[in-house]
Amino acid sequence: MAAERQVIVVTGASSGFGRLTAVALARDGHAVAAGMRRTADRNAPAVAALHRLAEEEDLALSAVELDVQSQESADLAVGTVLDRYGRLDAVVHNAGHMVLGPAEAFTAEDLAAVYDVNVLGAQRVNRAALPHLRGQGSGLLVWVGSSSTRGGHPPFLAPYFAAKAAMDALAESYAAELIRFGIETSIVVPGAFTSGTNHFANAGGPSDTAREEVYEEPYGELRAGLTDRLNRLIPPDARAESVADEIVRIVGLPAGRRPFRSHVDPSKDGSEVVSIVADRIRAEFYRRVGIEDLLSSTASL
Ligand SMILES: NC(=O)c1ccc[n+]([C@@H]2O[C@H](COP(=O)([O-])OP(=O)(O)OC[C@H]3O[C@@H](n4cnc5c(N)ncnc54)[C@H](OP(=O)(O)O)[C@@H]3O)[C@@H](O)[C@H]2O)c1
Repeated sequence: MAAERQVIVVTGASSGFGRLTAVALARDGHAVAAGMRRTADRNAPAVAALHRLAEEEDLALSAVELDVQSQESADLAVGTVLDRYGRLDAVVHNAGHMVLGPAEAFTAEDLAAVYDVNVLGAQRVNRAALPHLRGQGSGLLVWVGSSSTRGGHPPFLAPYFAAKAAMDALAESYAAELIRFGIETSIVVPGAFTSGTNHFANAGGPSDTAREEVYEEPYGELRAGLTDRLNRLIPPDARAESVADEIVRIVGLPAGRRPFRSHVDPSKDGSEVVSIVADRIRAEFYRRVGIEDLLSSTASL
């Protein structure tokens, strides 16, 4: 059980890591607003199931309407959380969407849509939440990143990987710009989890199917077997819950002791090494520029 109860918003909590994280945080004694879009229709069953669980286990856990693709929705969600719990301590940026297909077959608009969920979504939630966190002089942003940004990636997921890399870069800059407000950053970096979430089942594709078809002859068989190839890297005991467990651990650590980055990767794709090197280079660069105080005390170096 956490020493201190925090009020936490988790985005994309209708399924997968988001739902697991919301439940695990509530079970650890926190008050959790599980952000979901379309709570009145498509995700109404997920809301009902969550509220049933909250009642059965007497958890401070409830759904809040939060579509990260709408600033109005993000603003309303944060307002609802403040009304409901009186404060907000942490945000878990988890909502995301994957697409599969040859990079060339995605129109610019397709790419923009993937960025809209995975990158601009976090920006909207930050713009809604940060005035409150800055005002209280404390807080935590947890970003659910991806080991793809550190090298662990196959082809045919370009728009998604590019978006996750953009999200990661955004998180790093935010970390430096928020530390003087007492707001900490942790980037949790999952490897591939092909079960336990809807990530692969719900993956979208490119609009230009004619262009996609051109790739069928040289790459069709490879693409068809890509998920199997990923599956083979993942040990049978890999659990999506391990991502939620790590977020619970990070939230429960005292301020100043939280890791800047934490990989949760059952397949051990080696990308953690890239993070260690990149984070060291960033720290050294900050020292050379004389802004090392902006390195959060959470830097995992
Ligand atoms: N599974 C993996 O292998 C893996 C690896 C590395 C990182 N990740 C990251 O983990 C995060 C969670 O993914 P997951 O694997 O748990 O997959 P998931 O089960 O598909 O969960 C994605 C969640 O994001 C939500 N979402 C999508 N668009 C949204 C929007 N506009 N507003 C609010 N919520 C929205 C989905 O809600 P709906 O039900 O309404 O669509 C769903 O709850 C993502 O950021 C993903 O990039 C996953």
